[in-house]
Amino acid sequence: MPNSMTDPFGRTVSYLRVSVTDRCDFRCTYCMAENMTFLPKKELLTLEELDRLCTAFVNKGVRRLRLTGGEPLMRRGIMGFVRTLSRHLDSGKLDEITLTTNGSQLAKYADELADCGVRRINVSLDTLDAEKFAEITRRGRLGQVMEGIEAAKRAGIALKLNMVALKGFNEHEIEPMLRWAHGEGMDLTLIETMPMGEIDGDRNEQYLPVSRVRERLSETLTLNDIPYKTGGPATYVEVEETGGRLGFITPLTHNFCESCNRVRLTCTGTLFMCLGQDDAADLRAPLRASEGDELLNAAITEAISRKPKGHDFIIDRNNKGPAVARHMSMTGG
Ligand code: 5AD
Ligand code: SF4
Repeated sequence: MPNSMTDPFGRTVSYLRVSVTDRCDFRCTYCMAENMTFLPKKELLTLEELDRLCTAFVNKGVRRLRLTGGEPLMRRGIMGFVRTLSRHLDSGKLDEITLTTNGSQLAKYADELADCGVRRINVSLDTLDAEKFAEITRRGRLGQVMEGIEAAKRAGIALKLNMVALKGFNEHEIEPMLRWAHGEGMDLTLIETMPMGEIDGDRNEQYLPVSRVRERLSETLTLNDIPYKTGGPATYVEVEETGGRLGFITPLTHNFCESCNRVRLTCTGTLFMCLGQDDAADLRAPLRASEGDELLNAAITEAISRKPKGHDFIIDRNNKGPAVARHMSMTGG
């Protein structure tokens, strides 16, 4: 099927990230405030509406779908939704359905996800220390996530860990995390903190450039650049000593914007064309205005024509506010 979503900069959109809920059972300190206000439930699109939206994108040429949140597995009825979407895998229209999750519900859902054709999952994990885990997530339990990881592995799902690099919090745990992840057959990606949404602390104090992490790791490990790409913004190295892959996501640089192939849909039907920009398109109104998809398709085409060249992320030392007002939990990273 031809892809009808090429933007003015010649980039073709083939990847859709869908935030199915803004809610989460954790409150990671870099992501949310302790007293986070979530959307009223009545604002959410139904899962049937989300399916219509996803299907419109699939029909326009999206090949990969990632469900995110908040915590996607916290949305009621989520497994039925994944099951319904998997028809596009069966028909060959989609190459992949994946998930970014905090792992808390994975023990419960891993087998069913595998049965729906989910082959890869990203799990967010910032520390292997149970006490620190409780501290950073404010209400998570490490053991629960570990059980989830085990269950996913047993179900034959490939796992990648996402670790947000935080100065003074987990910077000395990066090498142990890497050795553990690689020993367990999982890739690891390190992410810099992005200035998104109000949090209780100061992001300047948490900011740890992953370039510095890379330098430090190079003192004890051999990191070989490799051309490996997952279609995402990470650049990868292979660690000679472990044989595993290590990814780096440095959102404050622009090196990935020019090959950006993605857009982000929220659970209220808002389409963000760039993670680091406020510009958005409302797809809920055209979705609800008619039962056919003509208005919706036109709105998607119009939105893609406005996809910006790049983001404006900057952690500004003079300005304490976030560069982008919305939280990551709205668009799911
Ligand atoms: N900066 C960087 N990463 C973040 N995440 C959530 N909020 C932020 C932020 N402000 C991470 C989560 C998850 C991924 C989707 O994004 O830990 O791994
Ligand atoms: Fe939840 Fe992920 Fe945000 Fe943590 S980072 S509060 S797990 S959405």
